[in-house]
Amino acid sequence: MILVTGGAGFIGSNFILDWFSQSDEVVINLDNLTYAGNLQNLTALAGDERHVFVRGDIGDSALVTKLLADYRPRAIINFAAESHVDRSILGPEAFIQTNIVGTFRLLEASHAYWRDLSETGKKDFRFLHVSTDEVYGSLTAHEPAFTEMHQYQPSSPYSASKASSDHLVNAYHRTFGLPTLITNCSNNYGPYQFPEKLMPLMIANALAGKSLPIYGDGRQVRDWLYVADHCSALRRVLEAGKTGETYNIGGWNEKTNIEIVHTLCELLQEMIGGLTSGDYLDLIIHVRDRPGHDTRYAIDARKIEHELGWRPDETFETGIRKTVRWYLDNQDWVASVQTGAYRDWIEKNYIRQRS
Ligand code: NAD
Ligand code: TYD
Repeated sequence: MILVTGGAGFIGSNFILDWFSQSDEVVINLDNLTYAGNLQNLTALAGDERHVFVRGDIGDSALVTKLLADYRPRAIINFAAESHVDRSILGPEAFIQTNIVGTFRLLEASHAYWRDLSETGKKDFRFLHVSTDEVYGSLTAHEPAFTEMHQYQPSSPYSASKASSDHLVNAYHRTFGLPTLITNCSNNYGPYQFPEKLMPLMIANALAGKSLPIYGDGRQVRDWLYVADHCSALRRVLEAGKTGETYNIGGWNEKTNIEIVHTLCELLQEMIGGLTSGDYLDLIIHVRDRPGHDTRYAIDARKIEHELGWRPDETFETGIRKTVRWYLDNQDWVASVQTGAYRDWIEKNYIRQRS
């Protein structure tokens, strides 16, 4: 079995759903259900014995030690994190606690567990740390995309905390021999993304006839990857990645924020027709820029392609179409997140599951 942390969040829940579409190997899902954790993402697994949910913190050393001793996973995939740049600007403390201290404690517990495994168990064990391209900082318009050799130059409390966690993971490999892997991925999009991030926020606001707030001039560039492609890359790295190595994962899809919002508006117009009050595009407003806003991220994903044979399946056109369709078909999911009803649902269901 494997231990997944943060499996009730956006990428983690997509990863678990995707995992069970390919495998029956049990997943222990450790998540402390912050505002971003939503067990409704995993309702398809209700009653499925392959999924064991444990509510808890990656920084709770006693709990993690007990989980490792009880379940004896062959791998840990660490998604758990505070993940939103804007929140890290408003309140960095939680980012330091989870992304740095939490990862450190998870590494400590993993190292102690790994040290006592048999020689074969030791060789086969993997600690896969899921990280971001934001650790590399910002590129100018014409600089080459980030390779794995690019210097770390994080700009926000979020990216600085993820950079710190990456350094700790590498240190546990170099110093103690823990068989680690790090992936640095570009911006993900797709189902179950919390509607504080660009795409789901813009879709939800457009449907509600609310303004679409673009930070600054909207010319910042992100490299967008459909979440299912991130999941397939992670499975491939877990299966065949070389320990101690880093793999950049990206979609070869550089788009400005303004292009993204225009595309979303056009797809909504095509799929459900316009607003009675005018065009979705009329909802666009430019608001004060994010402090320290990174201009451009771009991933050079040749290493994972050449060494592990991975490439994304979705093009931007197919991925964004699927995404808009999903949010249109799952407006109750968005409403439940926006009203906070998902929190009540979690409390009721979690308590019921335990009793
Ligand atoms: P998310 O915010 O949607 O989900 C994070 C999950 O972690 C939530 O379920 C939350 O409850 C859980 N969590 C937070 N703190 C925890 C703690 N202390 N203990 C246990 N669980 C905890 O994030 P996401 O977008 O799914 O990102 C997952 C990972 O992928 C993060 O590490 C992030 O840095 C990385 N990443 C994200 C993107 C992206 O575009 N979203 C891109 C590259 C890398
Ligand atoms: P976001 O989804 O927060 O991801 P990240 O900051 O990790 O890249 O934002 C993506 C881009 O969209 C980023 O350049 C900030 C911008 N943005 C807006 O212009 N308006 C918004 O309301 C949000 C949430 C983001």
